[in-house]
Amino acid sequence: MQSSQQLPRYDLQQTYQWNYENAPEPVELEQQVVPGHWSFCGMPVPSPLGIPAGPLLNGKWVLYYASLGFDVLTYKTVRSTFRECYPLPNLQPVNTTPLQGGEQRVSISETMQGSWAVSFGMPSASPDAWRKDIEQTRTRLAAEKILSVSVVGSLQPGWSLEDLADDYALCAQWAIQSGADCIETNFSCPNVCTRDGQLYQQPEAASLVASRVKEVTGSVPYLIKIGHVPDKTQAQEFLQAILPYASGIVMTNSVATSVSDDQGKLLFGGEQRGICGAATKEASLTQLKIFTELIQELPAGAFRPDLISCGGISSAVDVKEFLAAGAQATHLATAAMCDPLIACQIRKALSKQEE
Ligand SMILES: Cc1cc2nc3c(=O)[nH]c(=O)nc-3n(C[C@H](O)[C@H](O)[C@H](O)COP(=O)(O)O)c2cc1C
Repeated sequence: MQSSQQLPRYDLQQTYQWNYENAPEPVELEQQVVPGHWSFCGMPVPSPLGIPAGPLLNGKWVLYYASLGFDVLTYKTVRSTFRECYPLPNLQPVNTTPLQGGEQRVSISETMQGSWAVSFGMPSASPDAWRKDIEQTRTRLAAEKILSVSVVGSLQPGWSLEDLADDYALCAQWAIQSGADCIETNFSCPNVCTRDGQLYQQPEAASLVASRVKEVTGSVPYLIKIGHVPDKTQAQEFLQAILPYASGIVMTNSVATSVSDDQGKLLFGGEQRGICGAATKEASLTQLKIFTELIQELPAGAFRPDLISCGGISSAVDVKEFLAAGAQATHLATAAMCDPLIACQIRKALSKQEE
């Protein structure tokens, strides 16, 4: 078996475009079966292991991580027009204790300690390129694996909320035409300071956008990705607003804060960035527990969306902890980017458990 160090991974020193163009080839690895019956928004799937929106820049990255043992592959958030990536650093390691939200800032770290500030600005290939790529990817991906496509609306000057909703819906429609098994709309992105970045904090606006997207997704499962919601009342309002439309809720995107260097100088022009990885695990777990409770409190017979967890998950122990707390699936971004063999290790641990 190959060691993790021998396997290719996203190169932090290189640009987004370089990583887009230099996606690794799939590898052949023996995969343990994960005992149990697993489903993802009503679709059968071999395990609860997935990659959330971000690390899979295009179809080649999807196929690479599928070969590494992940079963739900989320194609990185795409838009209705081409969008450039922010300048480097796109992934800045940080040194921090667990984050709960409300922190003023975190400091950079020379080496990766499990968490980083993510600064891409949701770049997107042109629709022509991503639509063709998704189509080819679905045909090459094993039938039992799920291809989810994350989309976001791109607010233009003078647009109304309805225009933004239509833009989300257009991307969703294109992704479905290309063969996506399910659609995810990104309602959270702490580094995009426009309305499209903060929908998860605006229940009414979120409801309108979700209703438009639902019109085009029809029977195709529809998931909504949200940011950090530490407050139960706020979570309740959001849940009620999107309940008629969402098959699943994906959380927690990240915990947002400013980032400073060793001299205390703020990076990213002083704007906040989403911190992803180990430091957000407690916050994601707390948020999952809040949503689990809210879902349990729904009246008998009410539709119950799946809860898909991401945010700091990095081991079989974490996976079990999140599943026990009500997650239907557990997705890993940071840990999977740092250790390409992580799904193999988790599968092995989960399969041993049942022996
Ligand atoms: C490299 C990278 C790129 C990301 N890009 C997106 C994105 O385009 N859309 C999105 O919804 N989330 C994006 N995210 C957030 C992840 O989907 C996920 O919510 C977050 O990383 C928390 O999981 P983790 O702690 O396992 O990294 C990105 C994260 C990383 C690390």
